[in-house]
Amino acid sequence: MGRMLNIVTPLHTATKRDYMGRMNDDKVACSLKAREYEADYWDGDRRFGYGGYRFIDGRWAPVAKALIETYGLKDGSRVLDVGCGKGFLLYEMQKILPGLKVAGFDVSQHGLAHSHEKVRSDLFTHRAQDIYPFGDDDFDLVISLGTLHNLRLYELETAVKEIERVGKNKYIMVEGYRNVAELHNLECWALTAESILHTSEKSHCLPLSITGRCWLGSKPRVFAAPKSTRSMP
Ligand SMILES: C[S@@+](CC[C@H](N)C(=O)[O-])C[C@H]1O[C@@H](n2cnc3c(N)ncnc32)[C@H](O)[C@@H]1O
Repeated sequence: MGRMLNIVTPLHTATKRDYMGRMNDDKVACSLKAREYEADYWDGDRRFGYGGYRFIDGRWAPVAKALIETYGLKDGSRVLDVGCGKGFLLYEMQKILPGLKVAGFDVSQHGLAHSHEKVRSDLFTHRAQDIYPFGDDDFDLVISLGTLHNLRLYELETAVKEIERVGKNKYIMVEGYRNVAELHNLECWALTAESILHTSEKSHCLPLSITGRCWLGSKPRVFAAPKSTRSMP
């Protein structure tokens, strides 16, 4: 059974979100556009996703450092990122440990094409719910941040089995909720999520040795719509 770690939550909660504003802004059309995971999702208007996701040196460094320390990674260790997007976290991990061997995959052509150039050649197109082209225990750590909640439950089953199979250790962060207020926030905010789980369901459905967590503030909050260049969608 996994344990909860707050490695990504500080980064995630640094962003203000106008939940009701998003819910009332033609959300079905925006959600369909976001689910393409292409230019609009990453670098288009905020209503479709990130609203512009550019590399900011050091932004992912605290997460990279925490993962390296928590899992005792060293030069020569191997890390796989499932749903790596633009590969910024892998880059920050390799910056700390230049001998780290990294690999990542994603469904987004735009994400991979605009990934950090230092790791781009280590990234490839693949779906999290398909069999991974790696052997058992090939990686010292498999990470997956903000990706697995985009799968349906039957797809999650394969993805979780594959992550378990190829990784000696694993760290997963999915959107989730602890109470009805957080469920409301998620339902307003999430554009791409297929599996919105309560924390109790997550430990049942994602019985990985390590899990991360992330949720959207326990009170429904309304903010002036931010135009952020560095927030999660
Ligand atoms: C919220 S972003 C997170 C990206 C990256 N992990 C990060 O934290 O910066 C969600 C990512 O999941 C990817 N994704 C969605 N469905 C996927 C699938 N079935 N297989 C692999 N990646 C997927 C998207 O393209 C996107 O890169």
